Amino acid sequence: MERNEAMQAFKEIFGADAEDLFTAAGRINVIGEHVDYCGGKVFPAALNLRCNVYGRKVGGNKIRMAFRGIEGIVEVETDKLDSYRDLKIGNYQAGVAYFLQEKGVEIVGCDLYYDCTVPFGSGLSSSAAIEVATAVTLCEYAGVAYDKVELALLSQKAENKYAGVNCGIMDQFASAMGKKNHAVLLDCSTLEYEYVPLELGEYCLVVANCNKPHNLVESKYNVRRQEVEVALKTVQTVKPVKNLAELSPADFAEVKYLLSGVVAKRAEHVVSECDRVRRAVIALKAGDLHELGRLLNESHYSLRDLYEVTGKELDTLSALARKEAECLGSRMIGAGFGGCTISIVKKTAVAGFIRRVGTAYADAIGYKASFYETSIEDGITVEKL
Ligand code: GLA
Repeated sequence: MERNEAMQAFKEIFGADAEDLFTAAGRINVIGEHVDYCGGKVFPAALNLRCNVYGRKVGGNKIRMAFRGIEGIVEVETDKLDSYRDLKIGNYQAGVAYFLQEKGVEIVGCDLYYDCTVPFGSGLSSSAAIEVATAVTLCEYAGVAYDKVELALLSQKAENKYAGVNCGIMDQFASAMGKKNHAVLLDCSTLEYEYVPLELGEYCLVVANCNKPHNLVESKYNVRRQEVEVALKTVQTVKPVKNLAELSPADFAEVKYLLSGVVAKRAEHVVSECDRVRRAVIALKAGDLHELGRLLNESHYSLRDLYEVTGKELDTLSALARKEAECLGSRMIGAGFGGCTISIVKKTAVAGFIRRVGTAYADAIGYKASFYETSIEDGITVEKL
């Protein structure tokens, strides 16, 4: 949606002009999947697909929210912020407001129009973008200084404790701290981070959504978290580690006999994925995109066979990508069970790639995939209109 259209919509709904635009980014993750909550390193980057919040500070105790493509207004009262957990739309926002208030930030009444261009349920972190953009908006309207990492942590808390999804810190961190043309190498056990230029020369990343209907992703995600918790507790009976990510593949080989069934498979994914992140960063820094592509493929296979979070749609989409001569590697990103893949594709071959993979996917699955034009951008932006 163009900015003018959004501002027009704001005026029609709220009867006054929007005064500010706050945005936070959706994200991709180059590699390091399902390791953030195991203390691993992840390697996400912020996208041009974003949650745009057009706002006007009004005062009083009402936050009124409208949403592109959805009729009506959702209203939450700043003195009842604990009571909106069951809202279908607006619960992420209420959760962020609730925890900001708990920290002592005065939540000021405002009118907000949400134009979220991150497709929902796509594995590109629309929820993190909504949370972080809301957190920025409410801090700005409260007139308080904020630290972006603190906002990411608070947003994660809202998702964990208010919306009930036990996610790690990757998405909110990338949404807040992303940097144009860089990926963020984030150590989730310490929150130390390093920006690495995402320079792919004559290649680029193609983001494709398998468009599988959203189905119980949150509950399946929470089950995976419990399984790695069990793995960690078991490993801790013989090794003094705080996180599974501290185990090298060699360490893991020594303790694997303690684990069995799915718990063993889940832990093996985590340990091997952490090792792939390490190797992927080395490959990227050295400009070895073929090696990076191989690691992306291995990551997908591990998520498919060991972590079991892919499914027919994501497997088909990434396998079709891999068959393309000018594609160096492809994998699912995010929580899985649906959502997006990324593929490293030669820039000159992208149009043909999208055509062929798109057609073959629709033939195999019965509905179409979507392909997005993406670029890597900054996380948070703040603008007076
Ligand atoms: C979701 C969660 C993240 C992370 C990924 C998997 O996006 O929100 O915290 O666990 O899944 O890597």
